[in-house]
Amino acid sequence: MTAVWSDCTIEQNWQAYSEEEHAIWRLLFERQQSLLVGRACREYLEGLSGLGVVADGIPDFRRLSDILDRASGWRIVAVPGLVPDEVFFAHLARRRFPSTCFIRRRDQLDYLEEPDVFHDVCGHVPLLMNPVFADYMQAYGEGGLKALGLGHLQRLARLYWYTVEFGLIATQEGLRIYGSGILSSAGESVFCLSDPRPRRLRFDLRRIMRTRYRIDDFQQLYFVIDDFRELFDATRPDFAPIYREIATLPDLEPNTRVDQDREFVLWSRKKIGPRVSAAQV
Ligand code: PHE
Ligand code: FE
Repeated sequence: MTAVWSDCTIEQNWQAYSEEEHAIWRLLFERQQSLLVGRACREYLEGLSGLGVVADGIPDFRRLSDILDRASGWRIVAVPGLVPDEVFFAHLARRRFPSTCFIRRRDQLDYLEEPDVFHDVCGHVPLLMNPVFADYMQAYGEGGLKALGLGHLQRLARLYWYTVEFGLIATQEGLRIYGSGILSSAGESVFCLSDPRPRRLRFDLRRIMRTRYRIDDFQQLYFVIDDFRELFDATRPDFAPIYREIATLPDLEPNTRVDQDREFVLWSRKKIGPRVSAAQV
C-alpha cells in the first residue's frame, strides 16, 4: 500500500509507470500540442516549453518541481486524487500544487470525470511558471482557507472553475485559452473558441460567484479576461463584504441573462479566416 501522509501527499513512485502509461501520455501530449498552437495563450505555451521535460512521457515530479521552483517558487506534490478542501487550499497557499499521479486508460483519451496526471501537469503546471498567475494561485489558496472559515466556499469554488479551469483570455491575436480544464481536453479546446453556441462574457467577479457550473459537459458559458494582471487585481480586495452582498441574491444558471452582462464578441467569420473556421475543426 502507498503511504498517505497527513497532508494527503504520497510518493509519485515514478519508476513504477509502465511503457503503456508513458505511451498514453505521449499520445495525449502530441494531440494537444498540435491543437494548442494558436489556441492556448502565450504564457501557457511559454511555460510548457520552459518545463521542457514534459514531452517525453509522464514527468518525474521531482525534476519538474526543480524547474518550477527556480522559475516561480512553486513545487508539485503528489496526491492520490481529490483531497479535502482545507488540505488543497493549504498546499496552494504554500505554493505547492497537488497533482494526481495516475493516468487515464487508452479508452478514456477524450474524457475523464476526475483529474489525472495529464490534466494536472499539462493543464495546470505550465501556467505556474508565469509569475503573475503563480501569485494568483497562491492568493486563491489563502482565499480558500478564509472562505472556508466564512462558510462561502461554494462562491469561491466558482471563481476557480471559471478562471483556473475554464478561463479564456483576449489577446491582440485573438481569443485564447488559459483554463486547464480546456487545455487538457481536445474537444473543448476547439469548441470554446470557435463554436457559436456557448456564451462568452467579460470577467465579472460577482457574476462568477453567483453562477452555477456543470461538470459533465462542455461549458455553455466562459468568462474572458484581458490579462492575468486584471485577474489578480480584481481578486485582490477582501471578499468578505462581497460574499455578504451576494448572499442575498439568487444563484444564476450558466444560461441566465443578466442586464449587466458584457458579451465578448467573437471576431466575424471573415476576420477569423479559414485557419480556425468550423470546417476544419
Ligand atoms: N481577495 C480574496 C479574499 O479576500 C482572496 C483571493 C485572491 C481569492 C485571489 C481568490 C483569488 O478572500
Ligand atoms: Fe483542475
